[in-house]
Amino acid sequence: MLRIDVVTIFPGLFEPFLGESMVGIACERGKARIEVHDLRDWATDRHRTVDDAPYGGGPGMVMRPEPLVAAIEALAGEQGGERKARVILLSPRGRRLDQARVEDLAREEHLVLVCGRYEGVDQRVIDLAVDEEISIGDYVLCGGEVAAMAVVEAVTRLLPGVLGNPESTERESFRRGLLEGPQYTRPAEFRGRAVPEVLRSGDHGKVAGWHERQARAVTRERRPDLLAGDGEPATDEREASERAEGERKKEGERT
Ligand code: ADE
Repeated sequence: MLRIDVVTIFPGLFEPFLGESMVGIACERGKARIEVHDLRDWATDRHRTVDDAPYGGGPGMVMRPEPLVAAIEALAGEQGGERKARVILLSPRGRRLDQARVEDLAREEHLVLVCGRYEGVDQRVIDLAVDEEISIGDYVLCGGEVAAMAVVEAVTRLLPGVLGNPESTERESFRRGLLEGPQYTRPAEFRGRAVPEVLRSGDHGKVAGWHERQARAVTRERRPDLLAGDGEPATDEREASERAEGERKKEGERT
């Protein structure tokens, strides 16, 4: 079972998120134990203050070190002077999260996710009590809460026994460094657009080949950076992509 503790000044944001959906199922099935903690519980003054003005001036407030470090120490635990949990601060300054990192995190036993707020977190918290900083993308949120939810969801869905069909994590976008191609369900025709014939052929080999070519075509078009080498797909991949693209257009037109 993966244990995740979240430290935030907005614990209420997590209630519906944890109660419903796949994350809720993971907890119900005993695959994950996720607890959300109010940082203010570790504040020591009457007003439960967790932030203060930055030294040297500047806009906004900075999160004070004492409540944060106390919370992390209480939750992460120590054994022989070593932290037992992996402590992650969600921050736009962090390393950008990708699927490979998500897979590594899913193999941990215990994560402590610290949601930063305001203009930042006192650097001593990071130096003393944080193992790594993670960003979920090159844009700035008001705080780490939404980013922590993204980490929780991306990680818990990989835990064995959480998703009904493990094959869907095998084939999905990024698993093999490719985006997923188009998917179709019934009806076979919708507003004059037919589902590509090959998907209805019952020929599993042909279907697999089609998905592969589509995945390469979509990746080349949208995220060439994911393809090997100099950013351009190998020649045979490019040819396959173009063929697949043509095929897709042809199939789409055929009604
Ligand atoms: N907090 C604010 N912006 C963030 C981002 N992009 N990723 C993670 N945490 C954040």
